[in-house]
Amino acid sequence: MEQNWWKQAVFYEVYIPSFCDGNGDGIGDFKGLTSKLDYLKELGINGIWLTPFYKSPKVDNGYDIADYYQIDQDYGSMADFEYFVQMANERQIKVIADLVLNHTSSEHAWFQESKQSKNNTKRDWYIWRDPVVQGPPNNWESFFGGTAWEYDEATDQYYYHAFAKEQVDLNWANPDVKNAMFDVMKFWLDKGIDGFRLDVINFLTVNRDFKNNPYKNNTDEQIHLFDKDQEGILDLVKEISQFVHSYPSKFLVGEVGSEDLNVLKDYCGPGKLDVVFNFNLGSLPKFDAESIFLQLKQMEQIYTNQQIPTLFFSSHDMSRHISRFSNGDRQDEEERAKLIAGLMLSAKGVPFIYYGDEIGMRDLIIEDPSTLKDVQGKIAYEFLIKSGHSREVALEEANKKGRDKSRSPMQWDQSSFAGFSTAEPWIHLPNNFHLNTVENLIHEPFSILCFYRQLIKLRNENDVMRLGSYTRLEYKNHLIYFIREYNNERVLGIFNFGGMSQFLDLKELYKHSWKLLISNKRSSLENQSEIVVLPNEVIIASLLED
Ligand code: NOJ
Repeated sequence: MEQNWWKQAVFYEVYIPSFCDGNGDGIGDFKGLTSKLDYLKELGINGIWLTPFYKSPKVDNGYDIADYYQIDQDYGSMADFEYFVQMANERQIKVIADLVLNHTSSEHAWFQESKQSKNNTKRDWYIWRDPVVQGPPNNWESFFGGTAWEYDEATDQYYYHAFAKEQVDLNWANPDVKNAMFDVMKFWLDKGIDGFRLDVINFLTVNRDFKNNPYKNNTDEQIHLFDKDQEGILDLVKEISQFVHSYPSKFLVGEVGSEDLNVLKDYCGPGKLDVVFNFNLGSLPKFDAESIFLQLKQMEQIYTNQQIPTLFFSSHDMSRHISRFSNGDRQDEEERAKLIAGLMLSAKGVPFIYYGDEIGMRDLIIEDPSTLKDVQGKIAYEFLIKSGHSREVALEEANKKGRDKSRSPMQWDQSSFAGFSTAEPWIHLPNNFHLNTVENLIHEPFSILCFYRQLIKLRNENDVMRLGSYTRLEYKNHLIYFIREYNNERVLGIFNFGGMSQFLDLKELYKHSWKLLISNKRSSLENQSEIVVLPNEVIIASLLED
């Protein structure tokens, strides 16, 4: 396939334990995923982002890798993996693998060696420090809560972990670590993977003086100043890019944890990561056109035209946008979700759909603390219980901080386990799951699923929807609208995020008329120079040449 295929692709994130169980143990796996490739092909996506599938004790569901060269037995065998990649490629679907370079599981053989003694040959592969006044070496906090340092009694030192204590940060200042990880990348590239999603890639280097992090004014909220984006990180990113791109047509998307677009900008573009996620857009708390518009606009202003935005609104780390943007009305929720789909698949950027969003899956709410699965939720729950809070308060916080909400099984059909498995799934299904299943939506022409399919088809068929630059990008009264242009083709996108109809003068946008490509509320646009855009309406139109 051509170079830069990813610029034109629609990606789909598969959270592997929750997508489809092929062997009846209640956990998603490669056999199950392979059996659903035709569904994904029909949906129209061109790339799959596969969350970690390597051998892991799964303290953080696979983001704690114990062996980078093995498939976790819950997900199948290496042969199952290879067959999946082959079957995906036969359907012209690319596969990118999630890779965690920042830390390993505490069960990884490297760490098991490292903790043997202070002079073990692998000691320096991780970040070990002496105690300071019998406490941790500095004030750095883990992103899951509490100190980021764990004491090891046997050697009287602390090791650093930016996430759970079972996810031990590697010391990227040690060239042996780098070489070992380049070997890992080579192994998977040689297996035919089309690229990587690099987990928390801006965390690879930390401040060598281990300076304390500051706090936000008068709060106990830490600013992660010295534990990410540190000296040497961009050189490492360039080396990784050079290596991965020495294979033809490979793709790198980075998870860069930063709210600053100027920081994100440093990480992406030619010679670096191809694209990075922008969480300011992806995890917006409110259904608010102006905030969404500002992100689109800022990416336009801050990125050069060789730096392409990403467009996503849900992932395995956050509430699903349909639930996050809910105003409590089920029908309105689905209309809003269609609006987001319309924007995500027609605006400028590389879209990433999160599994299940295309059928309007809602967040899972955990009602019994013993069924909490996510480490972040569990840590939040236990912390509050230990500090004397009630079970109810602790559970509410666990539901807020925890990420089980977006990790429930894919809803394939109406059967008791939603067609995900023949056995009780490892994680619960949301209440009312049967209202949104592939089975019941696929034959409803106005369903959210059919809307996604039509949008992706349009995007795949119209160059301008994949490659166009903005000639207009505007916001007015809860409306976002734009014109994109490519090789004399133009596409118009209009999205009404408000609860009221809004008037729009199309002639002011462009003197010719527009031909409707898709809308969730109307069937034609012809001969209309002024329109009233309905609440939650999506209009995508192409220029009608006269
Ligand atoms: C980001 C991943 O998306 C998240 O799920 C994980 O917990 C952390 N990185 C740590 O690996």
